[in-house]
Amino acid sequence: MDDQLRAAFDGAWQLLVRGAGDRHSPVHTPVVASVAADGTPAARVMVLRAADRAAATLRFHTDARSPKVSALADGAVQVLAYHPGAAIQLRLSGTARIDPALADTAWAQATPFARRCYLAVAAPGSPLPVPGSGLPPAVEGRKPSEAELTAARPNFAVLVITLTAIDWLHLAQTGHRRARFRCDENGWHGEWLVP
Ligand SMILES: Cc1cc2nc3c(=O)[nH]c(=O)nc-3n(C[C@H](O)[C@H](O)[C@H](O)COP(=O)(O)O)c2cc1C
Repeated sequence: MDDQLRAAFDGAWQLLVRGAGDRHSPVHTPVVASVAADGTPAARVMVLRAADRAAATLRFHTDARSPKVSALADGAVQVLAYHPGAAIQLRLSGTARIDPALADTAWAQATPFARRCYLAVAAPGSPLPVPGSGLPPAVEGRKPSEAELTAARPNFAVLVITLTAIDWLHLAQTGHRRARFRCDENGWHGEWLVP
């Protein structure tokens, strides 16, 4: 990779690592897109929990019962983020998997209110007769106790996406720039593209 490609690649990972740690960053809530078995596209916003450059992974949390888990796990996914301040769009391609080994630590680090979502009685996407949270009435509107949250733990899953390609687009009045980075057995390679 030449110096300019290297700088773009470094910048992309900087946005991802900072985005994971800063809830005010627009990269904190990227869109994660998948394709269902029948070919239907599905995209949703998810909170980026961690970005690991060395492992080329992104980490997300979700409900293990949600239909997206089977659509995402072991399939091709694309993560889309745009940082207006940097004027950089990142389109990150890779494969997703559920990692049970990471779930206990991530669960322990989540706040009680964040963990409360996983107490929902039925799976996300289940029909409701009236508008509602799906939570058991006993925990509605208050912080649940650690004992109450025990039942939620099996519903919590960590989704890890291993990146294989990064499409980097920088918008500038002086001329847009676009680069594609791909990972193979020898590491990451980059090339410039027409924006
Ligand atoms: C700002 C924001 C953050 C979200 N974060 C997550 C998240 O981290 N994990 C998650 O499963 N869903 C998250 N959601 C909800 C999803 O976008 C989606 O509505 C829900 O998971 C159902 O998606 P599905 O039908 O594809 O399973 C978030 C939504 C918004 C608006």
